[in-house]
Amino acid sequence: MKDEYVKTYKLSDLSNKRGKAFKLDDDHEVAIFKIYDKVYAVDNICPHNHVPQIFDGYIEEMYVACPIHGFKFHLETGEQPTKTGCKLKTYEIKIEEDYIYVKKPKRKLFDFHF
Ligand code: FES
Repeated sequence: MKDEYVKTYKLSDLSNKRGKAFKLDDDHEVAIFKIYDKVYAVDNICPHNHVPQIFDGYIEEMYVACPIHGFKFHLETGEQPTKTGCKLKTYEIKIEEDYIYVKKPKRKLFDFHF
């Protein structure tokens, strides 16, 4: 089956280290971050308490900190600094003609690791 990418924002729509939420479909909403010249897409729903606010988190190096309780998740792996506990889902992206495309997941909204 062919990978399906969803066209989201233009690169210039994003501010450095500021997230923006984007609904991929009825089940998936991502938070997209640009850190200098790199772009990352992670689930917008925090796996800790299922609050859709990761886009509003603050960036510390390669981690986004959830604005609700401050859990930090790595933007590439979704892991917390301790590499234990809940994990944030990450999404593949590609950039074409200045637009960010996010790969739609096949199933599963969360990855739980206990
Ligand atoms: S809801 Fe995100 S850290 Fe608690």
